[in-house]
Amino acid sequence: MVIGLLALASIPTVTGVAFGVSEQRKSNQRKEDARRMLKFNIDAVCEGDTDDDRDVNGRRVVVRDDKVYLDDPDPRKRTYPAFTSLAFYIEYPELDETKGLDRGLGLPTYVSANPPLLNWIYADFETHELKYGNRTQSVDHVVGPWNWTEDEKTITLEESVSFVAVEEEEGEWALYFDRDGDELAAVLEEQGMIDCAFVPVNLVRRIAEEPPAPQQQQKTQQTQQTQQQKQPSQGKRSRSREEKG
Ligand SMILES: *[C@@H]1O[C@H](CO)[C@@H](O)[C@H](O)[C@H]1NC(C)=O
Ligand SMILES: *[C@@H]1O[C@H](CO)[C@@H](O)[C@H](O)[C@H]1NC(C)=O
Repeated sequence: MVIGLLALASIPTVTGVAFGVSEQRKSNQRKEDARRMLKFNIDAVCEGDTDDDRDVNGRRVVVRDDKVYLDDPDPRKRTYPAFTSLAFYIEYPELDETKGLDRGLGLPTYVSANPPLLNWIYADFETHELKYGNRTQSVDHVVGPWNWTEDEKTITLEESVSFVAVEEEEGEWALYFDRDGDELAAVLEEQGMIDCAFVPVNLVRRIAEEPPAPQQQQKTQQTQQTQQQKQPSQGKRSRSREEKG
């Protein structure tokens, strides 16, 4: 299901309020819903200091071809044209047969501005790649619960902050969920991608206007340039067999 803006306007609450609850609770619920529905861009943060860490740090979550990537915050500087993710939290619309899974909040993102189209971000059940799609495409995968850390800055999935950027092609960083807590060793091995460079990342919310103001984008760019000037350099982090000897 692609949710249009009209459909969204008719969703009464994010988490669903039963009839008969007190006015105070309803009012709190509305405030909570509004906070959950604030639109944000998502930036990758990693603390390591290899060349790859510095390259990936400050990149922004973008969507193209059904997959989620990290690329330059400035659309003009991207290797491939991609739409900048603009996301928020809302309860995932489970099917009757998946209601019992209790997956809570989903993470919808705009995937096109004109017309405004929303899709769900999810982790592929088999490969742990982050992808986006409508309900039919996403429901059998890891669609939630998405949440934030206590300071509301960092995105969590299944209560974990651990994501991994994988260099699938030269300079092309795809985003994965570290569901097994092994920095993807198992799933990349299965896919014959164990030699790919990878960078563990956290995903940080950047509250955005709708659409993001040009001024804001410039600021992010400057920050990134400053970060890139930090030295010294180190080698790539990868599981290449050659490196292991
Ligand atoms: C979901 O997306 C797929 C692929 O784009 C499409 O074929 C299908 O019709 C969509 N389903 C709904 C319910 O919109
Ligand atoms: C979401 O995270 C917050 C802060 O970490 C926590 O207090 C809250 O219980 C979580 N919500 C759910 C539904 O797990």
